[in-house]
Order: sequence, then C-alpha cells, then structure tokens
Amino acid sequence: MSVHPIRESIVQPMPTNDTGPSNDTGGASDHSKKPEPGLIATVSVELLQRLHAHHSSQLTLCDELEEIADSLPDQIDYIRCMRAAKMLDPAVRYAHRFEELELFPLLANSERTSVELQRSLQRLRFEHLEDESFAEELADKLLDIAEGRIVPSGSTEQAELLGYMLRGFFEGLRRHIAFERDHILSRIGTIN
Ligand SMILES: [Fe+2]
Repeated sequence: MSVHPIRESIVQPMPTNDTGPSNDTGGASDHSKKPEPGLIATVSVELLQRLHAHHSSQLTLCDELEEIADSLPDQIDYIRCMRAAKMLDPAVRYAHRFEELELFPLLANSERTSVELQRSLQRLRFEHLEDESFAEELADKLLDIAEGRIVPSGSTEQAELLGYMLRGFFEGLRRHIAFERDHILSRIGTIN
C-alpha cells in the first residue's frame, strides 16, 4: 500500500472556527450585485452557501480524524473509526463534484478570469484527485481497525502508520480548504 506524503504547506493557517453557511460567506456577501475590483466572479448566494456547507462537512471530518489520531494507540474509539470510514468518501467526493461541475466552470468562464486563477483551479483539481485516492486508502484502514483486523495498540508500527496517514490527510485537506477560502471564496461576489 502506498502512503501519501503530507502536502507542502503553502497557505496561511486555517481559521479556528467554521461559522457555516448561514452567517459566513467568506467576506464576499458584501460585494453584492455590482462587481468590484479584485473580484474574480459573481455567483448566487445559494451557490456560495453550498460551498460553505461542503467545506463545513469536510472540516467536521478533519476534526473526527484528528480525534482518532490523538487517541492512538491505546484510547482508540472503534465506533468513531467506523463513522469516519463511512464519512470519508461521500464528504470528499460530493464536495469535489460540486466544485468541479458547478463552481469551477463559472470561475473559469468568467470575464474576470486570469492565468493565475486558471492555475489555481488546476492545482485544486489535482489536489482533489490526490485526496480521493488518499480518502479511499484511509477509509479501508479505518474499517480494518473498526472491524478488528488491525489492532493499533498491539503494533507500534501500525499505530505510527495510521497516525501518519490520518495527519497527512486532514492537514492536507485543511490546507486545501484554506487555499480555496483565501484565493477563491474571498474574491467571489454574490447576487440574489
Ligand atoms: Fe476543493
């Protein structure tokens, strides 16, 4: 089995709390109706709220995975492992499908698009592929633990491997979302 390296950190730290779609539009909601300098596109409030909802569900997943990593090797919660294993694939894939099929085409075809933005979108698509592959491996590993095929407390090597996989995944995903917030979300205006 391959182990994915932890992605290089290239963006600022994540905000410490996620206020969700109802009251946080990444600073973009004030730029309603009329495009302003610096904005890369204008989209509906509903679309932006859906992006926030996907980010929120992925960050909840990251928190779950961090709890598991922190509980290694002796305090592991098997129910939590099962829950996380089942959350992984849908949380990641639904977010990626939404971004790639609905949001990114709007940005790529906006009259305000730029070479820099196209590069950012390309990079985000590539990270999606990496994360989907990584999520699948991690879900399999967590299922093995939840169903007793692997016992981390009985193997230092297994505990270290799982810890490495967990941290590599949730740290990379948090950085990915931070990048989307800093470089995409904060530069989108909204219309009703
Ligand atoms: Fe993404």
